[in-house]
Amino acid sequence: MTRTADLTDHTPDTDPADRSTRLRAAWSAAWDQGDVDVLDGLLSPAYVRRRGPQGIEQTREGFKESIRAVREAFPGLHTEIEDLVEDGDRLAIRWRSTGRHTGTFLGVPPTGRPVEVSGATFARFEGDTITEERVTFDSRQLLEALGVITTSQGAAVEPELVRGVHRKFITGVTVVTTDDEGTPRGLAVNAFSSISLDPPMVLVCVQRSSSTHPVLHRARHLGINILAADQLDVAKTFAGKSQDKFADIRWSPGEHGAPLIEGSSAQLEVEIGERIEAGSHSVFTGRVVSARHDDRAPLVYSGGGFFDISNTAPLPW
Ligand SMILES: Cc1cc2nc3c(=O)[nH]c(=O)nc-3n(C[C@H](O)[C@H](O)[C@H](O)COP(=O)(O)O)c2cc1C
Repeated sequence: MTRTADLTDHTPDTDPADRSTRLRAAWSAAWDQGDVDVLDGLLSPAYVRRRGPQGIEQTREGFKESIRAVREAFPGLHTEIEDLVEDGDRLAIRWRSTGRHTGTFLGVPPTGRPVEVSGATFARFEGDTITEERVTFDSRQLLEALGVITTSQGAAVEPELVRGVHRKFITGVTVVTTDDEGTPRGLAVNAFSSISLDPPMVLVCVQRSSSTHPVLHRARHLGINILAADQLDVAKTFAGKSQDKFADIRWSPGEHGAPLIEGSSAQLEVEIGERIEAGSHSVFTGRVVSARHDDRAPLVYSGGGFFDISNTAPLPW
């Protein structure tokens, strides 16, 4: 295979379409075969890798060293690229690594256990090399597999029981939207929360199996439409899988391009910050960059049913 030539014999104005091919080849060489020097053709000398919510920094050499350490502990490591999306100079990669723990790792002696870790990497190219990457993965998956932390007691709780608990928690219903190169996309989401008021930050949790999920990975902004009590049909549309959910919806792009649905009781546009992999979902956090609300009563979701809050009696407080 002409791997080395692929990664090093490039001209400065490399076709951007070639970037994903070169990245796939370099990842396979480095992660699956341990040929970490191949990364010198893909990562710029000034490359910085930022890991996790704290953005812990690594240089190119530090990164190569950590791949070596991982491969010593998991010699049969295999990394699969599940999704790769490009937007100008930026690339988003969703990946899944599997291996067996047969060497000491993070001070943990070999356990012989199979380990699976999934995450996402966001790369920024300058010319034909990557200057910066942000990496997020579910470190609990790894630590639990190694026996460093135990969350199996939590896992021992029947999902049905947990679902029953969640049904006791009342939420609103939002439609999380984004612009996919001119096409509006969105899904119904009740896993929405405020994080901070100053600065204003919020989060939404989106299942990885959702067709909107990869689009949110390459978007800069997302919209959050808090549905009004008379928008049950909108909730149903966006909880479904139709190809064009916006066909019968009145909407317009917000200041930052996120689709905002007419008749919602409140709307936010959010500049996406972190994309955190967590179990079956990704958590998208971000800063609120535009907001509006009006007097419409919000749609309420409780115990699997939808309610109109304007018919409820306020309690004295
Ligand atoms: C009330 C309600 C709340 C929902 N909340 C979420 C949620 O928080 N996160 C999520 O990923 N899906 C949630 N869903 C499910 C998605 O809306 C549904 O899977 C949708 O079909 C995904 O569409 P897509 O694959 O076109 O993106 C919810 C559905 C309903 C009805």
